Amino acid sequence: MKRSLVAAALGLLLASANAAVFDGTWRIDLSRPGGVTLHTFLILHEKGTQLEGKVVLNRSVDLPLRQPRLEGSDAAFSIEWGGAYRLHPEGDKLRVTIIYGGTSQEEATAIRVPEADANPPAAIPLPAVEAVPANGLARTPPMGWNSWNHFGEKVDDATVRQAADAMVSNGMAAAGYVYINIDDTWEGGRDATGKMVPNTKFPDMKALADYVHSRGLKLGIYSSPGPVTCGGYEGSYGHEEQDARTFAEWGIDYLKYDWCSAGRIYQDSDLPAAYQKMGRALARCGRPIVYSLCEYGAGDVWTWGTKVGANLWRTTGDIQDNWKSMSEIGFNQSRLAPSAGPGHWNDPDMLEVGNGGMSNAEYRTHFSLWCLLAAPLIAGNDLQTMSAATREILNNREVIAVDQDPLGRQAQRRAAQAGIEIWSRPLAAGGLAVGIFNRNDQESPAALSWAQFGLPAKPKALRDLWQHCDLEPAADGWQGRIPAHGVVLLIVK
Ligand code: GLA
Repeated sequence: MKRSLVAAALGLLLASANAAVFDGTWRIDLSRPGGVTLHTFLILHEKGTQLEGKVVLNRSVDLPLRQPRLEGSDAAFSIEWGGAYRLHPEGDKLRVTIIYGGTSQEEATAIRVPEADANPPAAIPLPAVEAVPANGLARTPPMGWNSWNHFGEKVDDATVRQAADAMVSNGMAAAGYVYINIDDTWEGGRDATGKMVPNTKFPDMKALADYVHSRGLKLGIYSSPGPVTCGGYEGSYGHEEQDARTFAEWGIDYLKYDWCSAGRIYQDSDLPAAYQKMGRALARCGRPIVYSLCEYGAGDVWTWGTKVGANLWRTTGDIQDNWKSMSEIGFNQSRLAPSAGPGHWNDPDMLEVGNGGMSNAEYRTHFSLWCLLAAPLIAGNDLQTMSAATREILNNREVIAVDQDPLGRQAQRRAAQAGIEIWSRPLAAGGLAVGIFNRNDQESPAALSWAQFGLPAKPKALRDLWQHCDLEPAADGWQGRIPAHGVVLLIVK
């Protein structure tokens, strides 16, 4: 009895000594390019030998700990985005090692802070949803480039100027691309008057806009309805009118508005009202600005996006530069076709063409599918260094013409069998654009009757948009072999 009491007391002592080590709220400060410091919080609870809690990554999103564990004097876990964490006590601080994607790693210190520091600011009440008048922009899907997919946080003033130069010199501008869009990580904070200022990577935003305009192009920028962006940089929360005016003053032509930390304050049911605030602010700012919503397809955005003044809205989570991600997104868009049309488009995310994670056949499929879907064509590669094959894909004017068809009807899947899918959309000049896709991992034969194309009889004319040649329509239909993950893209009349 006596011995077991002592053991129990010892056990308690040990547990409580242990609990004091990791238990609590910790702030990690990370220095980023542009002279910005980002804050991530660890909220940890030790329960005996178990570790529980969450990470508030970049103050933007709450992520549960994955496989949390106590290992000797250390604690370790990972999170869905942002890598694997190892914590080592050092006095009253923690030494933190973050391993990103199993490759690069970063060392930082975590200090103990009051729990409330990790909370988002109080919710600002949202207005009732009333229709924002259409801005008349984006009568065809926007075409341009965005920094995120290739450059991430490495984008700066020079990168943007070089992208603009490249777009002009490599034929993309002549093929219809016009927007040069800066994604997350340009933000510096606010000055004494509350005006948003860029960080040191962007010394003069107005001068940059002037430069992009001097090349005959337009400049886009990025912000969030929340207090911080997904990357943890300044957002437009509570400053919507002021920021819209600032963007107009700089000469901005396009805004991507990314939900991020707004999700810590509002519910999905608040999405329309929160997005309407900026929609209205843009409508009043005195400059035509394309309004692009980024909410990962949440809240059935296609049912209210137009109402809040948007020209496009994301229908999915983030694309990755691989066949699985691209094909799962692209081939899942059929049901949303009725929501797209001139001035308001479904956005299955930006292009990965030329980023290196897919074959050229797969990139032709990606580009063909996006064009059939009347998707925004926002290139996401390095325009300065792209290969001839990438340039040929992005600049295929016959395929771009499908995307930009003035009728603005998004394609739907008409048939699917044994990994072969047929998608088609009607065109303004009559006839159809038809994609025959092979989702199989090996080359596959395809034989389709004209009825399967949705045609009553043999078409008068048939054109192959990748081979750039007219084909003689056979009496009973189309037959051919399609490479693995490849496409045949046709116009039938
Ligand atoms: C989100 C968006 C991406 C990109 C990043 C930037 O993940 O969906 O397209 O803008 O944020 O932080």
